[in-house]
This record gives sequence, C-alpha cells and structure tokens, in this order.
Amino acid sequence: MIDFSFNKINNLNQDIRKGIQEAFMTAKTMAELTNPERRMLRTLQEREGEWTLQEVLTACEWDDQAIAVAAGHGLSNRGYVKINESSQQDVILGSEGEKAVNEGLLESRLWEFIQSQTNATMKDLSANFERHEAGPGIGLLKGLGVKLDGGKFSCDNPENVSKIIQERNEFINSPSIDSPLVEHFKGRKNLIEIVEAVTRTWTITASGKGIPNSDLEEVVKIAEITPELLQSDDWKNAEFRPYDVSLEASMPRSGRSHPMQALIERIRSIFLEMGFSELVDDYVQTAGWNMDALFIPQDHPAREMQDTFYLDNPRQIKLNPKLLKDWKAIHEHGGDTESTGWGGEFNPEISQKGLLRTHTTVNTIQYLAANPTESCRVFAIDRVFRKESIDKTHLPEFHQIEGIIMEPGANLGMLVSTLKTFYKKMGYPEVRVRPAYFPYTEPSLEVEVKWRGKWLELGGAGIFRPEVTEPLGIKDPVCAWGMGLERLAMLVLGLDDIRQLYISDLEWLRNQPIL
Ligand code: PHE
Repeated sequence: MIDFSFNKINNLNQDIRKGIQEAFMTAKTMAELTNPERRMLRTLQEREGEWTLQEVLTACEWDDQAIAVAAGHGLSNRGYVKINESSQQDVILGSEGEKAVNEGLLESRLWEFIQSQTNATMKDLSANFERHEAGPGIGLLKGLGVKLDGGKFSCDNPENVSKIIQERNEFINSPSIDSPLVEHFKGRKNLIEIVEAVTRTWTITASGKGIPNSDLEEVVKIAEITPELLQSDDWKNAEFRPYDVSLEASMPRSGRSHPMQALIERIRSIFLEMGFSELVDDYVQTAGWNMDALFIPQDHPAREMQDTFYLDNPRQIKLNPKLLKDWKAIHEHGGDTESTGWGGEFNPEISQKGLLRTHTTVNTIQYLAANPTESCRVFAIDRVFRKESIDKTHLPEFHQIEGIIMEPGANLGMLVSTLKTFYKKMGYPEVRVRPAYFPYTEPSLEVEVKWRGKWLELGGAGIFRPEVTEPLGIKDPVCAWGMGLERLAMLVLGLDDIRQLYISDLEWLRNQPIL
C-alpha cells in the first residue's frame, strides 16, 4: 500500500510536492464523488454566480434539502464549490401561539366578549371564561387601557384597543421577525419562539468548472449490503458507494428516553455492576417508618405539616404494636441501648399517620427490618416528596439515590470509597466528604462533588445509630446514603434551573446528549 501522508515527502521540492498532492487528491476525489455531488456539480456548471437552495433543488429535481446540503459540502471539501453561509433569526409559533391561531388571542376573545355585552362586568367574565384565562386576560386588557372599576369594565378609547388587538392577531396569523410586536410576544409564555435559521448559497469555483462532464455521469453503486447480495456472487464485481461519515447530515428524529430516565438507567447499571441489588417500594408510607424508626424526634421541625405531605387517605396505617412499643422505649429513654433517648412522650398515633415519603431511607430501613441478619448491598432510585416552593433549585417531587451496605466490619472508609467510586464512574472524580448531622447516623457526612471549580453538595450519608438498628435486631454496622438525583442531573446536563428537567421542552429534549 502506498503511503501518501505528506509529512513523509517533506523533503521534496515544493512544486513536486504540490503536483503529487494534486494528482493524489484528484484521483481520490474523482473516484469518490457521489451521485448527488455529480448531479449538483453538473447543474452548477450551467451558470456562474450564487445558487440558492431552492434553485439547486429545482434544477437537480430533489425535494430533500439534506441531499443538497450534503452534496454541497462534499463538493466544497474538494474545492469545487464555495458555500456562503449566513444565519438569521426567525420567529415561529409556540404551543400557545398555535392555539391562538385557532381560537384567537386571549385578549382578543375577552375584548370581543366585553364588547358584545351592554355593560360588561367582572362577574359576566368569570361566568364565561376559566379562571386561568380571566386573570391574565384582564392584565392584558388593562395594559391596553381597559379599566376595571367596582367590577365594571370601561374604556376611553375602545377603537385603539381594537386596533392594537387587530395588529396582534395579524402578527400571530403571519409572524415576522421584523415586526415590532416580536418584543411584545417574546415576553408572553409559549406564544412565539425565536429560532436560528441557516441560509446557504453555492457558487462554482474555477476548479469545479474544470471538471469534464464525462466525469460527472451518475453511476449505479451499491449503497446497501443485503443478505441476498452476499449470498450471490454479484458483490465480487460490484461498485460500492463510499460513505463519508464526516459530512453534515440532517439529524434523524426518533423516539428516545427522557434524559432523566436515561440517567436513572446509567446509575442503575453502575450500582448493579458494583454488586448492589435494587429495591423498589411504595411512596405511601407511615410517619413511623419514615421518621420514628430513624430516631427522628417527634417534635422535629421537618415533620411539620408545612414540610411533609400528610395524607387524608389513608390517614392512618396500622403498625405492629411491638414495633410501636420498641420505638416508644427508644425515643423516650433509649430502650435497651446505652442511649438516653429524646425524653418527652412518644405518641404511637403520630407513627401511624399516612404520608408521602420524604426520603427513600424509609425503604432501606424496612428492608433491613425484614432482613436484619443477612449481609446486603441494596440501592434504590425513587421518588420522594417535600413541601417545597418551586424555584431554580427546588421541586416538591424529586428523586433520591439511596443505598446501604450491611456486613460485618462495614465502616466509614468503605462508605466513602463506595460513594467515590460511584461518582467517579459517573464522571466526577473529585469527591469530598464533610461532617454533617442526621438524627439517624453517627458519624454523619455530607458528600460534595467538584464541578466547574466549585464544590456542590449532593447528599448525605453515615452509619446508622444503634437507636435505629438495635430495635430491629440488626447486629452488623450499616453504611447508608441518600443523594439527590436531580442535582446530579443538573451537573450531567449542565443546567442552572432544575425545572428544565420536567417542563417537556421538546426542542431541549431533542438536543440532549445520549447518556
Ligand atoms: N435521608 C437523608 C436525606 O434525605 C440522606 C441520608 C440517607 C443521610 C442515609 C444519611 C444516611 O437527605
């Protein structure tokens, strides 16, 4: 095989080198010109100057622009055409905008209604429109000079209101990026989207013009290798179409996992690979298992109604009286452990309250209660609920990555190295732990991961206290941790707003990396 890498012939004189290079390039590229490239070059040879996409498509009789773009790139790589690329912003309708085309803009519908009544009042409006429309709609009308006094609508210049609404309707029916209304609609939710559009034109170059027509005949080449082809002898003499995987192509859009689901799968396979078994359990739980079993005092602030979702149905879930008796003893005076407990009076009624679990530790602790003497490595990736107001870093419903290791001699070093290994496999090699506090672990840790130069807290961990393990008959030490999945997702996907994960923004979802 001849090696054409040019550094090997560096010592040759400049001209000879160029000659060889050109001869080589011509030989190589002629053989590899694809049919669409041949057709496009033949077309462009017909006249000089710029060709638009539409002109190329019509002249080449193509209807898929991806073919033209790919052929253009191939020809440009060989220096036969020059691509002129420019990108502009364009405006398209968002989901609400499309609705507005069919149903009319909100202000338009409200205004029409107000004008159809003799003396429109707020009451009439509420009777005819949903609350989620009436509220924002009145805001929009007020912005146009409609007044609402004592529940009655009035307006000094109704013609002007109609005129502005008319202009907005016209915009929504045929949006244009040059319209001054773009600014207005940008500020309204999901009415329009600003998108980036690339426009290309192609111009033939001198070397493109020099390719003789006879070299641009389209040839039949085999593009697909089928079992039939392989079984017959035809492949021996066939000409195969080469693929250039570096060419630009349109993105195939097919169904795929949501990034959160993909991330869960990846975490799952890491823990399975590390020898853990997965635990799946219900998110309706009792306060007893969610908190009392974990030695969280009954007057702990996190138990309050404003932090935890207690259920009306089931309001109470019966628990085994023996368990309640053991927890009572532990909480009030430490039971048979050396602990002094929390003191005060333990109320078994509180334990039996139904709630949405606030952490997945509620499940690992029950697993241990059911299997107190068998060494185990168990993990869970599941949904938890806390009464949080939604903002950039908080959701009332999120996921935790929970895990336990119980075996003779399990210790802090093992816990830390397990977490470090996990994060390393996730692609975050820098992990540190800091002292923390949880009522159910001693010692307790916070786990932090370094990301873009900063340490970010991702979860808690520790070794279960005797007050937790002894009443359940557990003899060996238990390493435990619980970490936020959405926090990790923010790192993996580079987000600064947690809400992005769940707003079903299709454009964003389509552009997420395969995890
Ligand atoms: N349950 C704790 C949380 O929700 C995390 C944790 C789990 C801490 C296990 C220590 C041990 O934040």
